[in-house]
Amino acid sequence: MRLALDPESRQPLYTQISGHFRDSILTDNLRPGVRLPAVRTLAASLGVNRATVESAYAELVAEGLVTSRQGSGFYVLPHAPGEPARARRSGDWPAWQERLRYGGYEAMSAYLPEVSRQTDWIALDGGACDPRLFPMDEFRRMLSQVMRRDGVSAVEYGEIAGYRPLRATLAQVLATQGIQTGADNILITAGSQQALSLITGLILSPGDAVVVEGPTYAGALDVFRARGLRILTVGVDEDGMDMAELEAVLSSHRPGLIYTIPNFHNPTGACLDGQRRRQLISLAGRFDVPILEDDYVGDIRYEGKAQPTLKSLDPDGRVIYMSTFSKMLIPGLRVGFVVADGPVYDHLLRSKRCHDLATCNLIQRALRDYVSVGRYHAHLQRSCTLYRRRRDAMLAALERHMPDGATWTRPKGGLFVWARLPHGTKASELLPRACGEGMVFAPGGNFYIDPAKGDDSMRLNFASNTEDVIIEGIKRLGRAMRR
Ligand SMILES: Cc1ncc(COP(=O)(O)O)c(C=O)c1O
Repeated sequence: MRLALDPESRQPLYTQISGHFRDSILTDNLRPGVRLPAVRTLAASLGVNRATVESAYAELVAEGLVTSRQGSGFYVLPHAPGEPARARRSGDWPAWQERLRYGGYEAMSAYLPEVSRQTDWIALDGGACDPRLFPMDEFRRMLSQVMRRDGVSAVEYGEIAGYRPLRATLAQVLATQGIQTGADNILITAGSQQALSLITGLILSPGDAVVVEGPTYAGALDVFRARGLRILTVGVDEDGMDMAELEAVLSSHRPGLIYTIPNFHNPTGACLDGQRRRQLISLAGRFDVPILEDDYVGDIRYEGKAQPTLKSLDPDGRVIYMSTFSKMLIPGLRVGFVVADGPVYDHLLRSKRCHDLATCNLIQRALRDYVSVGRYHAHLQRSCTLYRRRRDAMLAALERHMPDGATWTRPKGGLFVWARLPHGTKASELLPRACGEGMVFAPGGNFYIDPAKGDDSMRLNFASNTEDVIIEGIKRLGRAMRR
């Protein structure tokens, strides 16, 4: 055991020891029934004599926090709810901590009202797929197979760029999407959020401008704000980013990056139309701006023609492509990847080394097996069938329960419907009423740099709940809107 005892302190050693255990017991880090370290062992590891430890324990016994059992030792007793750890106020911290500013921004959670979740609430606000669809048994088998087959090499750091066979498999998958690349141009990251952060850090410096769709993925806004970037928004309609607006922004601001979500955009569900894809590549070429293509749910398509990735239309390595297994499979694996060419790739690799040395080797190996034996593809098909039904259930429920004046998108893939509220209704005011009815949505303000801009909208996730639950959730939303 390692306790920071101070022999110079005026506080006796035994009260320093009892103080440590008291704090641990009152904060429930030591639970009732837990045995305290044996007196002799603790005395030896702290370098004090046994009488000191005995005095500390005697004090805890006298306070009713601990009991002594003859010949067996000292045990923690149940206690009344203790004082919570003292919350420090601003001004209580050392000066260097008070000076910290994380990019001078507030995290996206700051825009969410304080809602403490209740278990019977219907949550349509999430950003993920349905975790219950994750093939738990199959994946467990893959993991144990990998450990048997690969032994300790499965739990070493592994290559910084990622497990090569996984990269090679991804290159084959990407080829089916028209992206001709190889393992040497793929970097595995801890989710695409890490990719976003690495790429931004590499290409842009504080004060530089980045173009985003308005609205856009809140986690991207977090990264851009944290890095002190100027964020320029371009509108989105059902065919994706507005190219005329983009052209105007490019010519007036000379941004350093265009960040776009061309497929089933988060939060609107819009899909960038084929012609606009070509226009985007050509505009980026004309103004010499790199594009970051965030293809987070590209494979979750229910209908309509598959559009080519921007990367596949890119003649000269201007597009950096990123994707993730988070939505198509499960977010907790934390596996995303980047496809990049030339010096960008080499720099990203160095940057990745600085951040975490490598993405989890064991998970990458299991994932590679899962993808390469065709299980991943089968899982995707199953998920798409289910999500499509859920989308239809949500659209039908919206039709039935939304008041006049509300409108919403009809996404051809992905996870979200974006709804506009009737004139004058604010999402930030509606949310507490919706919570009162037992449902939660993601207020539109989360997806804009200026939250007031999105206050007439909300994002609804149709993938993460069953049809019955979705229908009930929308019914509750309708009631909240009429209240
Ligand atoms: C559009 C978009 N990009 C990237 C991410 C990051 O996902 P992850 O880091 O889990 O891969 C998300 C997560 O919600 C997202 O919605």
